Amino acid sequence: MIEGRPASPLSERRVVPEKKKLILNLFEMNCVSHITHGLWTLDGNHRDRFNDIEYWTELAQLVESGGFDSIFLADVVGAYDVFRDGIETPLVEGLQIPNNDPLLVIPAMAAVTKHVGFGVTFSTTYEPPFAFARRMSTLDHLTKGRVGWNIVTSYLPNAARNFGLDGEIPHDRRYEIADEYLDVLYKLWEGSWDDDAVVADRARRVYTDPSKVRLINHVGENFRVAGPHLSQPSRQRTPVLFQATGSPAGVAFAGKHAEVLFTGGRTVADFQRNVASVRDAAEANGRSRNDVRFIVQAAVIVGRTDAEAHAKQDLYRQNTSIDGILAHSSLPFDPTAYPPETTIRQILEAEGLLDEPFVKFLSLDTTAGDFLAERRESWNDRFSVVGTPAVVADEIEKWLDEDGIDGINLRQYHSYDTARDFIELVVPELRKRGRLREEYTPGETLRERLFGAGPRLPEQHFATRYRGGANLDAELEPVPVA
Ligand SMILES: Cc1cc2nc3c(=O)[nH]c(=O)nc-3n(C[C@H](O)[C@H](O)[C@H](O)COP(=O)(O)O)c2cc1C
Repeated sequence: MIEGRPASPLSERRVVPEKKKLILNLFEMNCVSHITHGLWTLDGNHRDRFNDIEYWTELAQLVESGGFDSIFLADVVGAYDVFRDGIETPLVEGLQIPNNDPLLVIPAMAAVTKHVGFGVTFSTTYEPPFAFARRMSTLDHLTKGRVGWNIVTSYLPNAARNFGLDGEIPHDRRYEIADEYLDVLYKLWEGSWDDDAVVADRARRVYTDPSKVRLINHVGENFRVAGPHLSQPSRQRTPVLFQATGSPAGVAFAGKHAEVLFTGGRTVADFQRNVASVRDAAEANGRSRNDVRFIVQAAVIVGRTDAEAHAKQDLYRQNTSIDGILAHSSLPFDPTAYPPETTIRQILEAEGLLDEPFVKFLSLDTTAGDFLAERRESWNDRFSVVGTPAVVADEIEKWLDEDGIDGINLRQYHSYDTARDFIELVVPELRKRGRLREEYTPGETLRERLFGAGPRLPEQHFATRYRGGANLDAELEPVPVA
């Protein structure tokens, strides 16, 4: 207050903290059966149209009409061949096979939308970084800065055999390779080209100023990449970096690299422990605790009445395929082949598996019947809700305020009914409560929307050390522009 002036009534008003708004993504995969196994068979489900470009363009327009932040595409690069020792069950179920490339549907969706973002999964384990860097830059250009990348190291043994290996690279070693992979990408995305490298000067007949582009000359343990990057800088340069993890090596990696974390947890305490470990890791890497957003996979079944919502839940339960669930979890034994009263211990004994390391994760005295019932309901965790729009919105507000989530990846039971129900019933309720944006900001990149700052990675992120060509091993000799 300036001396001599009366206190403004404004200064006495209590500041009401703004309510946290929900980040809203649709969880997708370029296949028939992603995570809700068996449900592709439901009447009116469009999932078996995933080979058609129109499936994707209609979906993108639908979710943009509901103000979704992004469509998030999962991916695997192998088949689930552990359960029943082969690929028969996944093929019968359509369980992530056939499975098309997720990157290629993005330009189609981007062409018919203006705002919705796209998170896409790609593995750091099998294909070298140089070509991937170019693909992502191309997508960032074509979408005008609307892409994110879900960094995975891949967990399927069959994936390893598809890329010339006899078996999987050990878990923590995959993260070491991923760390160098990201280093190469940052050099290409952040360091190889200056923002003003492209001059596009017709009169002088110069497209790019060569003094503003440099080789990266990366020579590491796993990769040798000369550069320069083949794409000019895109809106975000580095796409928004997503990751899901649970292991110490994965958490350490997330602390250095990830901007958005998929975190689960069967209880509030579980979830908050996971969040705290990633925030600690971020801080250890010189970042702020708030540099990371946390998203959970959410199961939302909504109806105009409670009875309608529960009728949908019953329909989904009745049509869920237990074979799909078991094959997806790569279960190395088959409880459906035994009478329901058999215990897991008896099954493992019969199969000669009692000494295997995975046994420590199982309750051996559970019966096969109870084990299967539990697996059927495995989706039904802390982040699931069935009911009217008010019940759903109450629950989502709890997740935001009590658990501390930042957003959800909406699990699809039925395409497009799950998204349509959410848009018609839940979106208006969340907007009424101030929990969802009313509209998109035109021209915003995905990073700007998620973090409210600029389109590029913040200064304290590891990747920015390469900006302007700093910290690269070698530089292209500047060539004067005539
Ligand atoms: C919500 C969610 C989505 C995931 N999507 C994929 C995916 O699309 N492809 C994939 O290979 N792994 C995926 N994963 C697995 C993770 O990349 C990771 O392997 C897993 O969370 C185990 O963590 P860890 O790597 O620290 O052991 C996903 C995990 C979660 C929780």
